[in-house]
Amino acid sequence: MNMAGSPKNIALLGATGSIGQSALSVVEMFPEKFRIISMTAGSNIQRLVEAIERFHPKLVSVASRRDAESLKRRFPWLMVGFGVEGLVEAVILPEVTTVLGGIVGSVGLAPAYEAVKRGKTLALANKEVLVVAGELLMGEAQRSGARIIPVDSEHCALHQALRCGARSEVHRLILTASGGPFRNRPLDTFSSIRVEDALAHPTWKMGQKISVDSATMMNKGLEVIEAHWLFGVPARQIDVVLHPQSIVHSIVEYVDGSMIAQMSPNDMRFPILYALTYPERIATPMPRLDLAALQKLEFSPMDNARYPALRLAYAALNAGGTAPAVLNAANEVAVQAFLERRISYNAVVEISARVLSHHDVRPIDHLGKAFEADLWARQEAQMILPSMEKPKPMTTLSSAPA
Ligand SMILES: NC(=O)c1ccc[n+]([C@@H]2O[C@H](COP(=O)([O-])OP(=O)(O)OC[C@H]3O[C@@H](n4cnc5c(N)ncnc54)[C@H](OP(=O)(O)O)[C@@H]3O)[C@@H](O)[C@H]2O)c1
Repeated sequence: MNMAGSPKNIALLGATGSIGQSALSVVEMFPEKFRIISMTAGSNIQRLVEAIERFHPKLVSVASRRDAESLKRRFPWLMVGFGVEGLVEAVILPEVTTVLGGIVGSVGLAPAYEAVKRGKTLALANKEVLVVAGELLMGEAQRSGARIIPVDSEHCALHQALRCGARSEVHRLILTASGGPFRNRPLDTFSSIRVEDALAHPTWKMGQKISVDSATMMNKGLEVIEAHWLFGVPARQIDVVLHPQSIVHSIVEYVDGSMIAQMSPNDMRFPILYALTYPERIATPMPRLDLAALQKLEFSPMDNARYPALRLAYAALNAGGTAPAVLNAANEVAVQAFLERRISYNAVVEISARVLSHHDVRPIDHLGKAFEADLWARQEAQMILPSMEKPKPMTTLSSAPA
């Protein structure tokens, strides 16, 4: 528990990523409000070392034992962990009251679950965690009294707009989607999309996985599932609308026809600060929106032919049980293969669809079932991958090694 006026003690998961770096900038802006107790990274050790030197945490954790050992030699005063156990150690330190989940992928599930089990506040960007085990996580939060506050900008917007009325008065949630880099690209050119094209998001600067997910619209599909669990709203009451400017982050439509929308600059420091200070709001020096300079905000219907991933996510949510976890894991494998240039852009969603279609849906009544489904889908996707791989360029005599 936090004493009034004392800083919030934070475990920052994914300190070296896009969310993690924005979170550190927020912490640095308000040193009297927030203190970093622990932080974790995967393999970007240089960036982690910079953060250790700036924030002096008590514990850090990294992906590999080798990196953990070299960090321990460099900072003998520091507690250092590695792997999933290290992630859990970072959140269960007794002085940690708030965990900021900024890891990418389902690897963030175990620490998020341990935080919620212990009644800690979970400020969650790592949406995959709710996609894989939303029912369990929300149930555990109810039992322990933990707060799960969304950091995803759309869910942060919904969280704010839902403060305007009772749940029974909600008609629907409307998530906005920028449409990503291919909103206007001719469909018959999708087969030539390169990794760098998919990473060039028009309105947000984010990590690679979420950037590819935003291009395919799988990101919005995962967000529909995330919204379902966070706010207890059925899939049929969650809609998605295209909004290329990413200024209106999402909208709640109430039964009387009123729509409450939330707007702020497209800068993740806003939702991070909201999640870390909720239920308070604090004044910030960050640049504000200039509505007159914006001139226009556009909205248009979702284009399902362009973005088949969105329908797939709705299908997984409607199937329930292990289906969303399977979709998520297959997508993680496929996106990684695309980033490694092994498969084409179109193959990303195709692989996820194929894995999902082979799956026998089971209920997820404990965490082990979620991990099992995740593992099954990863193995299944790995089996499909070779048949989808792009042919390797032919080695010519002049380019062959001597
Ligand atoms: N970026 C955004 O604006 C944004 C907005 C809304 C929601 N989100 C969500 O926030 C999450 C993070 O996104 P991001 O854009 O910040 O991703 P990112 O830039 O790729 O950062 C991911 C972080 O997770 C760490 N990580 C990856 N694999 C790991 C592993 N096996 N073990 C431990 N740590 C691991 C990375 O460490 P290393 O880099 O050190 O390897 C990095 O710190 C995602 O779930 C995303 O959907 C992001």
